[in-house]
Amino acid sequence: VCIRQATVDDLFAMQACNLHNLPENYQMKYYLYHAMSWPELLYVAESDDGKIVGYVMAKMEDEDTEKDEPIHGHITSISVLRSHRKLGIATKLMRASQFAMKTIYDAEYCSLHVRRGNRAAISLYKDVLGFQVMKIDDKYYADGEDALDMRVYLQEKK
Ligand code: ACO
Repeated sequence: VCIRQATVDDLFAMQACNLHNLPENYQMKYYLYHAMSWPELLYVAESDDGKIVGYVMAKMEDEDTEKDEPIHGHITSISVLRSHRKLGIATKLMRASQFAMKTIYDAEYCSLHVRRGNRAAISLYKDVLGFQVMKIDDKYYADGEDALDMRVYLQEKK
């Protein structure tokens, strides 16, 4: 499996992977918006036979929507096909996107939302990548589940 930056040609495969793995799905225009705006923040995991088995899609937050907040990135969605889990792929995808947020966009931190009951993902974020829970957003998801609002700082403290 190789981890590489996503291209526009990968977007349908990323969308298919997302539909397999998560209830939060997006229209193609939302994938295109990410790829056009922040191409360096989208990565795919490609198997040896050329299949997309995982992706991460991220964005930089609009300064208008969150005034007074320092520059930061946000993980919109990440998932890995069941057949390829527990191999370190999500860790590599996350690190690649976070590195680009920091080095290209000078992001101070990276944020994300995750379902309160998503043990695997929370363990990845907390135990492996060093994210902390900032707050809980009650009933954030369409089915009423709460979200953890998580964050990891990317820059060394000055
Ligand atoms: N149970 C507990 N912890 C787990 C599990 C699991 N089944 N799977 C992964 N982890 C944690 C562990 O801490 C693991 O570290 P370890 O191997 O040292 O124990 C760490 O995650 C890293 O594992 P990876 O192999 O890098 O993760 P993987 O490639 O399997 O992908 C992911 C993890 C993305 C959560 C995958 O299980 C998945 O696609 N799940 C469904 C979709 C999903 O929940 N996506 C996240 C939604 S939130 C968002 O998108 C912002």
